[in-house]
Amino acid sequence: MKFTDLHVAIAGGGSTYTPGIVQAMLHNSDRFPVSKITLYDIDEERNEDMKLIVKYMLENDGYDNVELNATLDPEEAFTGCDFVFSQIRVGGMEMREKDEKIPLSHGLVGQETCGVGGFSYGLRSIKGLLGVVGYVQEYSPDAWILNYTNPETLIAEAIRRQFPNAHMLNACDMTISIEETMARNFGYDRKNWIAQYYGLNHFGWYTSIYDKSLQRDVMPELIEKLRKAPMKIASFNKGDQSWQDAWNKLSKILDYFPDYLPNNYLEYYFFPDIVVEETDSNHTRANMVMDGRLKNTKEMATKIRNKAEGEVLDFDFGEHGQYIVDMATSILNDSHERFMLIQPNMGAIPNLRQDAVVEIPTYVGRLGAEPISMRHPINDFHKGLMEAQNAAEKLLVDGYFEGSYQKVLEAFTLNQTVPSADKAKEVLDDLIIANKGYWPELH
Ligand code: G6P
Ligand code: MN
Repeated sequence: MKFTDLHVAIAGGGSTYTPGIVQAMLHNSDRFPVSKITLYDIDEERNEDMKLIVKYMLENDGYDNVELNATLDPEEAFTGCDFVFSQIRVGGMEMREKDEKIPLSHGLVGQETCGVGGFSYGLRSIKGLLGVVGYVQEYSPDAWILNYTNPETLIAEAIRRQFPNAHMLNACDMTISIEETMARNFGYDRKNWIAQYYGLNHFGWYTSIYDKSLQRDVMPELIEKLRKAPMKIASFNKGDQSWQDAWNKLSKILDYFPDYLPNNYLEYYFFPDIVVEETDSNHTRANMVMDGRLKNTKEMATKIRNKAEGEVLDFDFGEHGQYIVDMATSILNDSHERFMLIQPNMGAIPNLRQDAVVEIPTYVGRLGAEPISMRHPINDFHKGLMEAQNAAEKLLVDGYFEGSYQKVLEAFTLNQTVPSADKAKEVLDDLIIANKGYWPELH
């Protein structure tokens, strides 16, 4: 691994998140000296569109010292890499749409990462990411992989079974997005916060948020404010009703369970019937993203291709890119900044099985993640919810590696958004057909 002239490969280069990541790298080039960016994707058209957009960003911001490549060839992409940022979406938005709509057609939650939609995505995604990690092990085994490919706990569980020694951090931007949105809505500065949090990915709780400048735990007052009125969207996803709905549900969860600040994704487990009732099964989140971010990105590339005048890159990229670059910088400089990462438990939550993959605060340095032990047990409510979800996730990953229909059916039945084994079987059988060619064969 080098510390200057960094070569970064982006797996899933054609993703709409790429400009935000590139922007964050460029804006931090004093701490993160990138000299080569390679976009790797299996979708040539989207990868070439993104190459055009990134080239435009480099030229416009005066970074003519950064080399840019786009390729479909893994050997070319991953040879000589220092960092790999992975954001692949196996099956694209077309399959996300099926993960959402098929469960809904059975009256079940249809969501990208939660419920059986998340399990459907998981069985596709694991294979794709094992592929990427395998290439990196072959062509640049010392490179650090920063992964935010969903569904994250399933991915982390599968990768550590197959590549236990991979240099890899699994991270999700949801905790910082919640924190940033609260800080902006209620007039705090997130940079002063030390957050205590535990859970599985998209399935956890804050236990305190200490504000260094105010010198107190601000979580109780944040909960009070959230119960009075839901947060409004602060920047990224502005005007996006489905994110506003998520913040509304966060406040609703707090009305029932006001002691801890929850991850908003718990809405799917606490209020599955309300979520189903409120979802338009003909127009789900995948449709909104296709009509929004995906279309905007395509239009951006077209404008650049046609040499249009005026503002071409006109959207807010959110916290996502900055979070990843901060993590990479913390590895590079061994600076032990604190991030929520998805890690094997190994005692960090003392009364949860040690081989669970959990999301917890972690220091990050040259040796990778150094997780922080909580040193106190979690309560039975959270523990029970997490144990059921964790067992379901483990069964699903077993099902993936063993090609076992039985294990996958058990995983679906155990998922807390599913009311019966009958429903689990019906939806599983439909998803097997929809995912033909993506899922392993189940026997
Ligand atoms: C957050 C989560 C991601 C998730 C994304 C969905 O950033 O942490 O895991 O993929 O939201 O957002 P979208 O706008 O695609 O529905
Ligand atoms: Mn996430």
